[in-house]
Amino acid sequence: MSLLCARRATAALLASPLVLRRCIAAILPDPKILNEVARLQTVSSLNSLKIRSSDFIDASGLAPLAVAFDATQKPNQLWYNLSKKFESPPFPPASKGFLYYHNDTHTPLESGIRLRLTPSNSPSSSSSLLASGQDLIAPSGAPWHIPLPALVLDRMHTGIINQLLRENMVTQKQLWHCRTLFGKRWKQWAPQLITRLTQEFPADFSGILNMTVVAGEAIHRLKLAHIFGLEAPGPWTGSAIVRFEPSTLPKYAGSRVLHLRILRIVTPVTPDTTRPRDVRIAKPEPGALLTTLSRPSSLTVDSDTDVPANVEVNADAELESAPWAYNIDRQTANGEALRALWEVHNWNPKPSIIVHPL
Ligand SMILES: *[C@@H]1O[C@H](CO)[C@@H](O)[C@H](O)[C@H]1NC(C)=O
Ligand SMILES: *[C@@H]1O[C@H](CO)[C@@H](O)[C@H](O)[C@H]1NC(C)=O
Ligand SMILES: *[C@@H]1O[C@H](CO)[C@@H](O)[C@H](O)[C@H]1NC(C)=O
Repeated sequence: MSLLCARRATAALLASPLVLRRCIAAILPDPKILNEVARLQTVSSLNSLKIRSSDFIDASGLAPLAVAFDATQKPNQLWYNLSKKFESPPFPPASKGFLYYHNDTHTPLESGIRLRLTPSNSPSSSSSLLASGQDLIAPSGAPWHIPLPALVLDRMHTGIINQLLRENMVTQKQLWHCRTLFGKRWKQWAPQLITRLTQEFPADFSGILNMTVVAGEAIHRLKLAHIFGLEAPGPWTGSAIVRFEPSTLPKYAGSRVLHLRILRIVTPVTPDTTRPRDVRIAKPEPGALLTTLSRPSSLTVDSDTDVPANVEVNADAELESAPWAYNIDRQTANGEALRALWEVHNWNPKPSIIVHPL
């Protein structure tokens, strides 16, 4: 049985009533499925303050992790890194701890289910759940989570939403907000959400930036196809956690310009040797701004029209580097999305420090 087929069979199996599930499990030969059924786990609460030691779960090696909130309920399936083709690698080794609802302080849209890794199920570690341990990290480098909009809009997660409502962790108003924002065709919105200008987010250098911007009540697409190379995919592979930063460079004083800061590398950055050589993006370095490289050109200006008549690129000159910069006042869909993000929290950049020559 192929892995995908086995997963689908498991999904069907897990959706059936418990007694039936036991019967099917007893006659099915696939040990993987038997194993997954055996590891259906029960959790009494998703509230980090109410979690008990018996809520300790082990997701290691599971695809999916099946949890129920009581024995009579249909199990809820949680996947480590579900793709659009409904495939996911299993949870990594040592994915043990407590599932809980992370209530984000900025916006409910960033709230969601996370897994707090703890070394043991002792009550002392569970009572101080959020004071100790670490969240499981997803392949992107951000905490593994199932965000509230996905919980609300994907029918696969109805059981979790019902549990959150029972525990007063979410409000009907929040659910309604998710539904009205994303609508019925929510899968057409990029899963990576950004609601604050300088929010950290994961980026894959071999791809494009494809995100959903929510600024107040408005929703926008942000698709920067050429940010990591003149052609997508760009010259580098690897990934990082990054953020936008309003420019404080004197050369951009008076205009609204964003740079991209590489905060930490998640998968090592290497040149993509399968691509034609493109030297216009410098190797992304942790802590630094994303940097573009260009050759200085000498312009010959037509004195009558003021239009450059001839551009000579000096191929032997040193490459000039400058931070990647995006002026948000461009009249494009991306400009509009970034302006909304800038304006929703009245971003006030620090005045730039202009050094005057003596
Ligand atoms: C996780 O999912 C993303 C998006 O589908 C994909 O690009 C990435 O390769 C996946 N990573 C792993 C380790 O499965
Ligand atoms: C979640 O956080 C918000 C904002 O900090 C707060 O108003 C709300 O009461 C919290 N909800 C729960 C269930 O703790
Ligand atoms: C961006 O994400 C959306 C939603 O996942 C997807 O439909 C679209 O094809 C993506 N665009 C690109 C260029 O990858």
